[in-house]
Amino acid sequence: MSNRFISGLYFECVPSNISDISAEKCPDYAQHMRGATALVTGGAGFIGSNIVDALLAAGAHVRVLDNLSTGDRRNIIGVPTSPHAELIVGCVSDAAAVRHAITGCSHVFHLAAMVGISQSVHEPDKHFNSNILGTEIVLRECAAAKISSVVFTSSSAVYGLAPIIPSRESNPLMAASPYAAGKAQGEIFTESYARAHNTHAASLRLFNVFGPRQSATGAYAAAIAAFLCAAQEREPASLFGSGDQTRDFVPVANVVQAFLRAADPRRNLRGERFNIGLGYATSLRQLLDMIADITDIKIPPRHLPPRDADSPHSCADISAATSVLKFIPQVSMLEGLCQTWHWLRSQANLQA
Ligand SMILES: NC(=O)c1ccc[n+]([C@@H]2O[C@H](COP(=O)([O-])OP(=O)(O)OC[C@H]3O[C@@H](n4cnc5c(N)ncnc54)[C@H](O)[C@@H]3O)[C@@H](O)[C@H]2O)c1
Repeated sequence: MSNRFISGLYFECVPSNISDISAEKCPDYAQHMRGATALVTGGAGFIGSNIVDALLAAGAHVRVLDNLSTGDRRNIIGVPTSPHAELIVGCVSDAAAVRHAITGCSHVFHLAAMVGISQSVHEPDKHFNSNILGTEIVLRECAAAKISSVVFTSSSAVYGLAPIIPSRESNPLMAASPYAAGKAQGEIFTESYARAHNTHAASLRLFNVFGPRQSATGAYAAAIAAFLCAAQEREPASLFGSGDQTRDFVPVANVVQAFLRAADPRRNLRGERFNIGLGYATSLRQLLDMIADITDIKIPPRHLPPRDADSPHSCADISAATSVLKFIPQVSMLEGLCQTWHWLRSQANLQA
């Protein structure tokens, strides 16, 4: 395939070096994707690119729609791909771009979003276009294209700043930012899409995802990526507040599993929401200790004032995902940290 422009959109063909993957190597939960064509919005980002890898490994054809605002071409170019993978550089709030990207697809994984909570407070108009209008357009085009399976990416942020722990899907929502409100709205859009068109769709409320390809820089860098980066640089780790805050940190491989399970139209979902985490919480202080254990590098904390909109505790009840999606986290917190550390080291070696 060669790079090309179609209707003002730039289509970039991703180099490929694997042809096909045998069915035996494919996990059972991914086998339904074999031969399917899937659109992954935000597929050049951290989580999206990990889903792209899994889809291609399952023998699916994959299209990525991404405006590369926080995503990176290297997340896709460096991975094994099938000959039919392509990156479409465009925005989910552009209906024409979405329509082009969705043509011929049966499955849509909608991850594209402006991800910074504070940024959504300070730039609500940008957030509205990207996250709320963008989601409505994606679902509108899914309906027009008669897509048989849609998974929307929601967030634990919908539970608010002082959630009931562990958070259950039936708990009241207390959105405390445009970002959280947009995710809650996206869930409602997704459910109404599924019911109006009598088709399969689900929303996944992701807790604190970490793993290879997560950005370690910038104001919105997640704690694990920033701490591991600090270890690598032998620098103090910025700790906002006391460090006693707890989070349900979930390795990205488990999140990918959840997406593939939720995308299976045989589950016949109608916009149900599922928490996706490990089901237990770790404090930031414990995290620093774990990182010291796996890296052999003791990073001193640099104490900073607490951040606005930082909830003290967060933890998922994953029993709905376990019983309905048969979701079972297969990568532990420690394994996930090791994988992320090795990935970070390999990136440093590449740059050396
Ligand atoms: N990382 C987490 O812990 C976490 C937790 C809860 C929810 N989520 C959600 O998961 C999804 C993926 O997040 P991530 O952590 O991989 O972040 P990311 O920034 O790496 O990925 C987001 C991707 O979306 C793209 N994008 C942004 N706006 C777009 C637009 N308008 N049109 C097209 N592409 C656009 C970006 O370029 C990027 O590639 C997001 O919806 C995010 O809200 C993430």
